[in-house]
Amino acid sequence: MVLPFFAKKPLPAPLPTTATGQPVVPSKRSEDPAYLKDPEYSRGTRGTAPISAIPTQASRQTAADIANVQNTIAPPAIEVDFSDLKVGDTYLRTLFVVGYPRYVSANWLSPLINFNHSLDIAMYIYPTESKGTLDQLRRRIAEMEAEISTDIQRGRLPQAATEAALEDAKSLQSQLVKGVERFYQFSLYVTIGAESVKELNTITKQVQSTLGSLLIVSKVASLSMEEAFKTTLPYFKDRLLVTRNMDTTALSTTFPFTSSDLSDNKGVLYGINMHNESLVIFDRFSLENANMLVLATSGAGKSYFVKLEILRSFMFDTDTIVIDPENEYEMIAKSVGGNYIAFSTTSAHKINPFQIANPKDSTEDEMGYKYLFLNSLLKIMLGQMSPIEDATLNRALVLTYRQKGITEDPATHILEAPRMEDLYRSLIGMEEESAKNLAARLERYVMGALKGIFDQQSNIDLDSKITVFTLRELADEIRPIVMFIILDYVWTKVRKDLRRRLLVVDEAWYLMRYEDSAKILQGFVKRARKYYLGVTVISQNADDFLSSAYGKAIVTNSALQMLFKQSPAAIDQVAQVFYLSQGERHMLLSAAVGEGLFFAGQNHVAIRVISSPDEHALATSKPSEILERQKQAIA
Ligand SMILES: Nc1ncnc2c1ncn2[C@@H]1O[C@H](COP(=O)(O)OP(=O)(O)OP(=O)(O)O)[C@@H](O)[C@H]1O
Ligand SMILES: [Mg+2]
Repeated sequence: MVLPFFAKKPLPAPLPTTATGQPVVPSKRSEDPAYLKDPEYSRGTRGTAPISAIPTQASRQTAADIANVQNTIAPPAIEVDFSDLKVGDTYLRTLFVVGYPRYVSANWLSPLINFNHSLDIAMYIYPTESKGTLDQLRRRIAEMEAEISTDIQRGRLPQAATEAALEDAKSLQSQLVKGVERFYQFSLYVTIGAESVKELNTITKQVQSTLGSLLIVSKVASLSMEEAFKTTLPYFKDRLLVTRNMDTTALSTTFPFTSSDLSDNKGVLYGINMHNESLVIFDRFSLENANMLVLATSGAGKSYFVKLEILRSFMFDTDTIVIDPENEYEMIAKSVGGNYIAFSTTSAHKINPFQIANPKDSTEDEMGYKYLFLNSLLKIMLGQMSPIEDATLNRALVLTYRQKGITEDPATHILEAPRMEDLYRSLIGMEEESAKNLAARLERYVMGALKGIFDQQSNIDLDSKITVFTLRELADEIRPIVMFIILDYVWTKVRKDLRRRLLVVDEAWYLMRYEDSAKILQGFVKRARKYYLGVTVISQNADDFLSSAYGKAIVTNSALQMLFKQSPAAIDQVAQVFYLSQGERHMLLSAAVGEGLFFAGQNHVAIRVISSPDEHALATSKPSEILERQKQAIA
C-alpha cells in the first residue's frame, strides 16, 4: 500500500491490552529460551563490575588475543542504579515507549530523530504470523461488539472510543485477510547520555515532552536500566520486549527519512544542514549528471554560493569556465591566477563565431554543425525570419565559406575562417530582396556601434584553471548574443579534451529570452555528462525556467538544484515543480540571505551557506564591502 506523503494513517488498535493499560509483554519472552540461556545475557552484572572481567563467548575462544582489545575499549566501571546507569563518566538512562498516537503520518518520528542532543534510538520490528493475529483480532472485535450491544441494550450510548477502535480493527482485519497488510510487533527505546545526573534529568524531561508532543507515552525503564541500556546497543537483542502491534503501512511511517544527511565521504562543502546542523558535503560528479540549477530572487545568495563551490572545487582539480554578465567573478579569477576575459568593442579578446573548432582534426560533419549554429545565432541577432529569409541566409552562409575556399572537405577547414563582415558582403552581393533586407539588419553589427566585437579571429584559450568571460561592458541586447557565442566556443573546446570541468552560466535568463539560445543551453545541459562537464545555471527568473519547455528540460537534467529565497509571485510555480511541502514554501518565502533548499538526486535538505572570512572577501559582491576593501588595500 502506498501512503501519500502527508496522509494520516491510523495505527491499528493495540492488541491485547490489560485493564491497567500496562503493556503486555508478549509470550515470546518465555518462548525464547535461547535469549535466556545465552550466558552473556543471563549473567547478573548488577552492581559495580569492571566490564573487562566479563568473559564472552568470543573471549573464551581467543581470550589472549581479545583481552587486550577489551581492556582498551572497556570503561573503567559500570554502575547500575535505580533509574540510571553510569558507564565511565557518562550517565545513561533508557526510556521505553508504551503508548502511541492513534494517527501517524509519514516521518512522524522526525522530531525525535532530529532531537538536539545525541540519543541512541533502537527500533525492533518483529514480523508476526497473520493467523495468530487474526484470531486475536476476531476475539477483540467480538469483545468490542459485545460491549457496544450491551450498552445499547441498557439504553446507554456506546463509548465513542470503542466504536472507533472497532472500526479500525475491522478494517485491519479485512486488510490482513486480503493480504494487503502484514502484521508486526514494534518496540521503540531511547537511551539518553549526559555528563551529570542533573543534566540527565533535564534532557530526559525534554525528550519526554518531545515524545509527548507526538502523543507518544514513554517511561523510564526503572530497575531494568542495564537490560534497557543493552537493548539500545547494536546487539540486536530486545531485552525489554515492550511491543506494540503495527501493520505494514504504519510501520513504514516510522522509517527515519529525515536523517538523510547529505554527507558524502568526499566532495565540497555546500553548507550546513539546517535540520540537524550536520555538514552537507557532496561530490556533484558522483550523481547521474553533474549539472546544477540555482534559482532565487536577486541578492538571495546565488552567485555567492556558486563562487564558494568554485573555490572549493579547486581541491578536486576541477577546471571552471564562467560566463559572467555582471563582472562578479573577477576577484576569484584574479586571486587564483585564472584567465579573465572582458568582452567589449575595444578589448583585445575576440571570438569569431565563424571559426571552425579544431581545424586540424576536423570532420565532414563539422560544417553542418557550423551552419546550424550560425543560423541560430543570426536569428538571435537579426530577429525572427520568414522562411524565404531563412533560405537566403543559409545560401549566404555557404557562399561566404566558399569564398574563403572552405567546403565540407576537412582538408579545407584549416583555411582562415570568414568573419561577420564577409557574410555582410555576401548578402549585399546577392540579388534577392530578402538578402538586402537581411544585410540591412546585419549592418549594425559590422559597421555601427557594435563593430569591433566580431571582426577578428578568436584569440582565447581555455587552458587556465579558471576562465571568466565577463560581459559587463556590453549593451544589454548584445549580451545574449555574446553568451551564445561563448557557449558554442566552450562546447567545441570541451569536446576536444576531456577534463573534469564546471561551466557556470550566471544570469542565464538572458539566454532563456530567445528560443534559439534557450535551446542551445538545454542541449548543453543534456549532453554535458558525456564530456565530464557539470553545467551550473543561475537565474533570478524562476518563471523562465518553469514555464518554458527548454527550461523544464534544464530542471529535469540537473541532478543538483538549489533554491534560495523566492518571491511570492513565483512560489506557486516553484512549489509545484519541486513538489514542495507547505513548510518548505514558507521557508523559501522567508529565507534569509544564504539559506535555502538543496536538492541532490532524490534527497533534499534545508541548508545554510557558510564561508570563511577569506572566502567571503573573494565572494562578496556588496559594493560597501568592496569599497571598504579597496580603501584598506590603498592604506
Ligand atoms: N551565505 C552567505 N553568507 C554571507 N553573506 C552572503 C551569503 N550569501 C550572500 N551573501 C551576501 O549577499 C550578497 C548578495 O549575494 P549574491 O551576489 O550571491 O546575490 P545573487 O543571488 O547572485 O543576486 P543577483 O541575482 O542580483 O546576482 C553577497 O554579495 C554577499 O555579500
Ligand atoms: Mg548574482
